[in-house]
Amino acid sequence: MNKEPITVTNTRYRLGYHIMPKSGWINDPNGFTYYNGYYHIFYQHYPYAPEWGPMHWGHARSKDLVHWETLPIALTPGDEEDKNGCFSGTAIEKDDRLYLFYTGHHYYGDNDPEYFWQNQNLAYSDDGVHFIKYEKNAIIPQAPEDNTHHFRDPKVWQHGDSYYMIVGSQNKDELGRIIMYRSEDLLKWEYLGPVNESKGKQTEGYMWECPDLFEVDDKYVFLFSPQGMDAEEEQYLNLFQNGYFVGELDYESHKFTRGEFKELDHGHDFYAPQTMQAPDGRRILIGWMAMWESEMPEKHDGWSGALTLPRELYLKNNHLYMRPVSELTTLRINDGTHNSLNLNQPRLLLNDKYHAEINLKGPNKNFNIEFKNANNQLISLTYDALSHKFSLYRFDKGDYRYSIIKDSDIINLQLYLDTSSVEIFINDGESVFTERYYSEEPPQVWVSSNDNILIESSIYELKNNTISF
Ligand code: FRU
Repeated sequence: MNKEPITVTNTRYRLGYHIMPKSGWINDPNGFTYYNGYYHIFYQHYPYAPEWGPMHWGHARSKDLVHWETLPIALTPGDEEDKNGCFSGTAIEKDDRLYLFYTGHHYYGDNDPEYFWQNQNLAYSDDGVHFIKYEKNAIIPQAPEDNTHHFRDPKVWQHGDSYYMIVGSQNKDELGRIIMYRSEDLLKWEYLGPVNESKGKQTEGYMWECPDLFEVDDKYVFLFSPQGMDAEEEQYLNLFQNGYFVGELDYESHKFTRGEFKELDHGHDFYAPQTMQAPDGRRILIGWMAMWESEMPEKHDGWSGALTLPRELYLKNNHLYMRPVSELTTLRINDGTHNSLNLNQPRLLLNDKYHAEINLKGPNKNFNIEFKNANNQLISLTYDALSHKFSLYRFDKGDYRYSIIKDSDIINLQLYLDTSSVEIFINDGESVFTERYYSEEPPQVWVSSNDNILIESSIYELKNNTISF
């Protein structure tokens, strides 16, 4: 019996310019790369329900990081080496061929989700559309002996004449860590050992998922998704975290020396990002715009989840900034509306558009941005100038997320609204909040201040159909 993909039954929350599934479920981005004139993005995907299930790799490509063409599913699970899922991984080009590295997921006998094992596999393509699983899979058939069964999400890159792979894992003391392999040909891999590990289950996590390790502005950044960190009053409030260490990677000893963990995005809806290097050298990131165990109301409509906008990364004083890639200005469909606003009373910035970019610039004074519709409040973002703190409240969830920025005379905000998502970039990406909201009418966006200030605003309407299925 052929299974049919689920269909979308209501388009009320469908996004206009983000990568999302034709229908069904999306989680992590996978295999973000550039190959044969196209950016390629793959994603964890289940086409048959708006729920997580045996993982496939969905696939889309783009020439400009703005317009995306959905391609046939690249990897389908069920073969001996990926019986119960093709989990997250990476892509790399070698000699004109595109290689995908992914984790094979396996349950023992009775499909109990708690009891599984994982291995690392390879697939390849010469046209960037059709993929063949390597006939000698698995390329790494099992986790090393000092590891538990958590062994997934390979990231592969080239350094000098060698290829390196890091894999998210857990040691026998149940501490998260990453381990490293080396290869000359992408096929045979030699185990080098652990690169870095968690200093404590509650402080740095019991499992490190989705590792990425890359050079940006002459430093190494290790980006990953630790599970198990305890929430603190204003940090680590999501179910699982995502963040980074800045440090040095020694290829001889395969050790990474690093500073303290920092969260990357302060919103409710951000996880498992990965990066690639664009042909012009920029380091670009895409993440999953959701979080495990969130409600995801679009499930009622036959789909679930999306990926964030592509963001360019840069380092300043060991802090990782994320700003929207410059290509996104081509989303603007008009020259915009530009105003100086005196906030001696609340000002309405937007009330009849689903897809818009709002830019605001003002002095370091208190202000508040409200998202609402006729019946409900959706999101409120408050800035306190004394403490330099942003507090974001999600009315559907009933809780706050926070971020403190460094001292600055001028505050600028760039907000991308897309039907049911908003990404808020503060001070050129020093701080970012990624959020979903659920409203069947366009949201009203208000700005107000108890400080009587003058601000500059520029508002653009954005395109609504930059992904084809
Ligand atoms: C992270 C993750 C990965 C895994 C994938 C499974 O969100 O748990 O570790 O490969 O999702 O879909």
